[in-house]
Amino acid sequence: MLRVLVALTLVGCATDGGFVWSLPEGFPEPRVPGDNPMTDAKVELGRHLFYDPRLSGNQTQSCASCHVQELAFTDGLAVSVGSTGEVHPRGSMSLVNVAYAPTLTWASPVLRHLEAQALVPMFGENPVELGLSGREDELLARLRAEPRYVELFPAAFPELDDPFTIDAIAKALAAFQRSLISADSPWDRFAAGDPSAVSEAAVRGGEFFFTEEAECFHCHGGFLFSSSVDHAGNVFDQASFQNNGLYDVDGRGAYPATNTGLFEHSGEPRDMGRFKPPTLRNVALTAPYMHDGSLATLDDVLDHYAAGGTVTTEGPNAGDGRLSPNKSLFVHGFELSAERRADLRAFLDALTDDTLLRDPRFSDPWLTPL
Ligand code: HEC
Ligand code: HEC
Repeated sequence: MLRVLVALTLVGCATDGGFVWSLPEGFPEPRVPGDNPMTDAKVELGRHLFYDPRLSGNQTQSCASCHVQELAFTDGLAVSVGSTGEVHPRGSMSLVNVAYAPTLTWASPVLRHLEAQALVPMFGENPVELGLSGREDELLARLRAEPRYVELFPAAFPELDDPFTIDAIAKALAAFQRSLISADSPWDRFAAGDPSAVSEAAVRGGEFFFTEEAECFHCHGGFLFSSSVDHAGNVFDQASFQNNGLYDVDGRGAYPATNTGLFEHSGEPRDMGRFKPPTLRNVALTAPYMHDGSLATLDDVLDHYAAGGTVTTEGPNAGDGRLSPNKSLFVHGFELSAERRADLRAFLDALTDDTLLRDPRFSDPWLTPL
């Protein structure tokens, strides 16, 4: 008993900011920038900011408008709509386990830190999301006027004389997002040794997912079900961008001009249509699918992979993605019987973490008294 108490005390002391990662089995420690250590106070401030509509120019939207907890922090739309009504070319992405993302957004190779990424929805003008560009002073004045922030900002940044800065906002938002760790799905419980956690169909679906016939695991492998994963102590660049054969509008592999993936950043023809493989955790909740929400359901996604790509029959994006010269060799199609479809669906459904969707630590703090 005494030994247990000593051990607990040591853990408590080790993290002097108070924040303790409670990481599931198999999850390494996330990489945290040296100038933004995790503390409970910072995570709590970040949570308030994440849910605060004062973070948009016209005070109609917060981060949470497009990243909804019950939808694993996506928004249910094919493409997102900003606070001024401007339509984003791409759909919202899940923020679950985003602490492990080596690159951020669907296809940027350069956005590598959550601190930097937070500034994009706040101040970006192409497209306008939160619409705060040129309104920095107004934003800070609004936050200073909120009694909760008078407590929360100094608690999170005790080293600063005046903690009401854009830099502090970005750091707190990043800390909150890093705390969004999820691994309590039925599949996790199955992997941890509870054979009754998932159905037999899900077990068969999971087995097929990891075969060379389905190939899913090449791009959606590992503890995040995404090949794009980084963590503390890792020395390899794990950024990953892949073309899964969604489009071919010119017979030479082109994607629609609004969304060319990594090509938009590199200009390299081989990068046309290459996007980050998103995590498949909670994928049953993140419809519609792909960067532009063009596949409505998981059955559409399974049809896509079974066919080795998507054929678009009409409209400006018409073309046969299956024949794209840029398509990954791992997207080659497979036999999809009714039973196999049901098995894969059962497996993907078993990746939903219901605890996360209700976890009070990640919920809107403005709904409850401090
Ligand atoms: C108008 C809707 C909208 C708002 C508001 C919004 N986001 Fe997003 N978010 C998106 C979209 C769309 C993407 C994909 C962007 C892209 O690919 O260019 C995204 C991507 C992200 C990502 C990348 C996730 C990954 O796995 O790579 C992070 C992190 C993120 N948003 C955090 C935030 C934060 C923090 C805020 C508030 C400051 C915010 N978002 C506000 C729509 C929104
Ligand atoms: C060559 C790499 C690769 C392989 C193999 C692959 N995927 Fe993907 N997957 C991706 C990429 C890249 C995206 C995003 C593409 C886009 O947005 O245009 C994606 C997107 C998805 C999505 C949509 C997720 C979302 O949130 O929108 C699902 C679901 C999915 N894949 C499931 C599978 C399954 C099931 C298999 C096996 C049958 C598989 N993938 C095989 C790379 C791959």
